[in-house]
Amino acid sequence: MSESVADGCIVQALIKALESERGLDAPERLRERIEALDRLDALMGVEGAWAQRAQALQQRLEAANLLQFEAIRAAVRYGKGRVALQRWQLAGDADCRSGDAYDWRDELVSGVLRFGEPGEASVLAPEMVFYQPTPARHVFDLFDRLALTSDDVLVDLGSGFGHVPLLAAICTPARSIGVEIEPAYVAGARDCAQALRLANARFVQEDARATDFTVGSVFYLYTPFTGTIMRSVLDALRREAGRRAFRVCGFGPCTAVLANESWLAAEDASTAGRVSIFRSRRHGDVKRDFTQ
Ligand SMILES: C[S@@+](CC[C@H](N)C(=O)[O-])C[C@H]1O[C@@H](n2cnc3c(N)ncnc32)[C@H](O)[C@@H]1O
Repeated sequence: MSESVADGCIVQALIKALESERGLDAPERLRERIEALDRLDALMGVEGAWAQRAQALQQRLEAANLLQFEAIRAAVRYGKGRVALQRWQLAGDADCRSGDAYDWRDELVSGVLRFGEPGEASVLAPEMVFYQPTPARHVFDLFDRLALTSDDVLVDLGSGFGHVPLLAAICTPARSIGVEIEPAYVAGARDCAQALRLANARFVQEDARATDFTVGSVFYLYTPFTGTIMRSVLDALRREAGRRAFRVCGFGPCTAVLANESWLAAEDASTAGRVSIFRSRRHGDVKRDFTQ
């Protein structure tokens, strides 16, 4: 059998299987629908009657997902977002993989936050890292481990569209702040917070080097910048650590930089491929370091 005939058979088998799957439209099968849509996406080359059937299937599954996303958005507006999201096992289940790949949870989060089309983004200066959201499973895993309270303020330095502060406002009692240099992303994050009535999340458009480090009990960085910018932000945080205690969380390459800071102590040693949490060291210890 030639490769294209074999491919055709696989396509037809998949479409038939999905069409005959009873109950795939049920609200609780959101994850299966998202994964089925992913598989259908990979078939985009198919033509003729099978293409029409694939498209009809896609529209049916997307419509069912939209209903679910709308229900979650409505719950968020009424302050019940955490409960509405809890049923989906968003962190800590057996397949919660490490690393930066995306999965069905990211589709769910996009469906709930539903950002509009961003305006044109500016060209970033050297040492500033382009936008890429933290995979949703790591954000939920982080929230579980941080156990934020209403006294906490989570600051995402380089917050992009604001996934982390927005999800914190939905799922935790803490206040959250996104600091982002790109105006188009800040506008998208503010629109989302307003549409979902998330009064606990606020977004500041500025260079992270200029931000007010006196506010924040947890600072989060998904490698937003490198080199001298990272140095300048870490020096500001280190000075702040001389005055009070807070936590710093890192994901991606910046984690190794945080691990080398003498004023930070790793809180959880087994976090390879997940977000790492560090605690600023005690006032006395930090003071000693400053005199070096
Ligand atoms: C890798 S993305 C992280 C996005 C977000 N923190 C998340 O985890 O979903 C890095 C973001 O940092 C922003 N950024 C880069 N340099 C910055 C700076 N000096 N000040 C503020 N934001 C900056 C970029 O525009 C980008 O949106």
